[in-house]
Amino acid sequence: MTAAFRYYPDRDSLMAAAADQFVRLAAAAIGARGRFTVALSGGSTPKGMYRLLGAEPRSAQVDWSKINVFWGDERCVPPDDPASNYRLAREALLDLVPIPSQNIFRMLGEAPPERAAEEYERILRSELPANGAAGRFDLILLGMGDNGHTASLFPGLPAVRERLRWVMAEYVEEVSMWRLTLTPVVINAAANVSFLVSGEDKAEMLARVIEGPVDVDRLPAQVVRPVNGQLRWLVDEPAARRLQHDDRFAEIEQRVGRGGDATS
Ligand code: 6PG
Repeated sequence: MTAAFRYYPDRDSLMAAAADQFVRLAAAAIGARGRFTVALSGGSTPKGMYRLLGAEPRSAQVDWSKINVFWGDERCVPPDDPASNYRLAREALLDLVPIPSQNIFRMLGEAPPERAAEEYERILRSELPANGAAGRFDLILLGMGDNGHTASLFPGLPAVRERLRWVMAEYVEEVSMWRLTLTPVVINAAANVSFLVSGEDKAEMLARVIEGPVDVDRLPAQVVRPVNGQLRWLVDEPAARRLQHDDRFAEIEQRVGRGGDATS
């Protein structure tokens, strides 16, 4: 498995590149299979990308009638709660483009967590094409927390080692809330997985995840290793500042993906 690292001078250029990648991958998937399935990331980083996608010229470059939008994780809150990842994407993008409501598959943050996880897995099983053990997204967008979590795979919690379920609910002490998350089973079945990492505050953790020892329980972002998909790290220079290797624009073997099992 290889990981492509793309570096950008600043957050704005990173957001523009991520939006352009979305347009490009969507056109390719729609051309090949008539639709594009994407799991959006939560958190604050992708908001700029969503806004660019929801505005000219990019919004006109996407056939929104063929875009199916999902989420990589969700906070267990109502859809209009300020903490909702669905609300973030709805306000920054989905309310601004002609995407049919039936193409939007939100996680039911307002439902009992375990039931919401089971319901979302049922939806994924019916909506995604099979790819071995799991359904295959065309694109999964991910962020990385400064503690090494991604989606809602948090350090020390069982979901990072899940081998069967595609969606799990977990109570996360660190943020004092229930969360819903895709598990590595479905993340690593995706055709494309893109991390968006921005800012000096992520620099130390990014270096640990990319260049440090493999320890997925402490650094869940390391578990992301698409089995037969493309992993891309889109990062800005402030976030890349602590990386030792100058792998600008290089395709390199990501340490955790060198044939080994990242969860070992
Ligand atoms: C969430 C996200 C989470 C996020 C990271 C980074 O629900 O919070 O899915 O995994 O991507 O915490 O968050 P920022 O982009 O806000 O730094």
